[in-house]
Amino acid sequence: MNILLIGDVVGKIGRKTIAKTLPDLRKKLSLDLVVANVENIAHGSGVTENTLSEISPFLDFMTLGDHTFDKEKDLKTIFKNYNIIHPYNIENGINSGYKLLKIGNKKFLFINLVGKVFMKKSDNYFCPFSAFDDIYKKFKKENPFVIVDFHAETTSEKSAFFHYANDRANIIFGTHTHVPTSDLRVENNCFFVSDVGMVGSYNSVIGSSYESVIKSFLTEKPFKNEIPEDGETIFNSVLLNIDSNYIIKRFERVDIKSIV
Ligand SMILES: [Fe+2]
Repeated sequence: MNILLIGDVVGKIGRKTIAKTLPDLRKKLSLDLVVANVENIAHGSGVTENTLSEISPFLDFMTLGDHTFDKEKDLKTIFKNYNIIHPYNIENGINSGYKLLKIGNKKFLFINLVGKVFMKKSDNYFCPFSAFDDIYKKFKKENPFVIVDFHAETTSEKSAFFHYANDRANIIFGTHTHVPTSDLRVENNCFFVSDVGMVGSYNSVIGSSYESVIKSFLTEKPFKNEIPEDGETIFNSVLLNIDSNYIIKRFERVDIKSIV
């Protein structure tokens, strides 16, 4: 079984890159399961019904993060149409932090968590470590293959979570920073990467125009999301090969530059 994990898809250029890249990649890599973080698909922040319906045909499962509710507050109805979850440990969330799906002969438990360190809205998040414990306990008897998107700012929090949970999870992939890391490893048949990266404008600061982000640093004012709509793009992902006993056999980064 081949699983592709895709980093945060940013804006229209990110959606266009997914549409351009994934159909061929699916065939070329014989992909069985494609998972992506889509919390930035609606102009860099949040999701809408239109953006989800545009991108979802290319993806098998979608996760979110701290920007989940930036565009649409009432996502409960929209979520019913998709394989999508948002971080479980957000207070006042909509209880969609995990999902159990049968894929082939195996149950897969998808979990989405958000970190607390250096996250603007962290007062509204409860402990992701104990959140994981709570969810895992509910499904332990089903012996699922557990995939966690840990959406967080710091590599230390993500790495600590990996060492906390690798006796129960099988894939822990970091998202949120939009910067791909090379710390891929497997312990206890659990894969880890601190951050998968992003799908978006290559000529940008983590997806937004150079000008908008530099201006924000110079003025110390929040930056306005200005996202290039076309041009060079980067598609950051990680490919995993799992054998018929659900043992992780191989893993590698798949990072593709293109123009849309
Ligand atoms: Fe985020």
